[in-house]
Amino acid sequence: MKKKIIVANWKMNLSLSESERLTRSILKGLIPFKKKLAKVEIVFCPHFTALPLVKNLISRTKIKIGLGAQNVFWEKKGAFTGEISSLMLKEFDCQYVICGHSERREYFKETDEMIHKKVVAVLDSGLIPILCVGEKFDQRQNGAKDYVIIQQVSHALEGVNLDSNQQLIIAYEPVWVIGSGQAVRPQEAEYTHQVIYQRLIDLFPLELVQKNIRIIYGGSVDSSNIKGFLDKKAIDGVLVGGASLKADEFVKIIESSL
Ligand code: PGA
Repeated sequence: MKKKIIVANWKMNLSLSESERLTRSILKGLIPFKKKLAKVEIVFCPHFTALPLVKNLISRTKIKIGLGAQNVFWEKKGAFTGEISSLMLKEFDCQYVICGHSERREYFKETDEMIHKKVVAVLDSGLIPILCVGEKFDQRQNGAKDYVIIQQVSHALEGVNLDSNQQLIIAYEPVWVIGSGQAVRPQEAEYTHQVIYQRLIDLFPLELVQKNIRIIYGGSVDSSNIKGFLDKKAIDGVLVGGASLKADEFVKIIESSL
């Protein structure tokens, strides 16, 4: 079985001192579970300017925490004011990059084509993309959920060459559930993960899908519902927004996964 992964997406919520406080409190809260932590992978995704600070804090402890960015631009360098490349993220020891989060699709008009370029750039630079897909509420009510998700997965990944040294994470996040406090039922997420898996095995060799691609769930995950998701074989982990901003709550989430 693949190791379950818990990714914290802090979004644009914390100042530097708040990022520091949160990192320290989580690390402290995890000490009692130190021996069991190897069972899961934990990743923090702070905003860009907090990356060096968080990198420093996590590198000073024995608890293994991965580092991820919340966005990236697809070019390596050049005249692209305000953008950050995968190579720059690598300099901060980032291993993961969230690509195509619904907030970026909505507020920054990221298209499937742009997200495809980001996924390719992230893979090319040796990092692991966390590709977000998910339907809006009206699409779900119109019966288009599976279609929308298959389209997003296909557009982002068609033509992508994944080799056996590379990994990919797909985060299924129903847009209408994000930040609502009300997650979908684990059975519903499990079904959608199977739909995604089905598409993936058309795009990539089966063995690669089984070994190198994880499908995780995101959308109002907290300590009260995490177990229901992680108990499902088709759910390889979770992407946590709001509940990752409270140290106690996030530690409880990790504790429930052990
Ligand atoms: P949420 O956010 O856990 O606050 O719903 C998840 C996300 O947007 O990744």
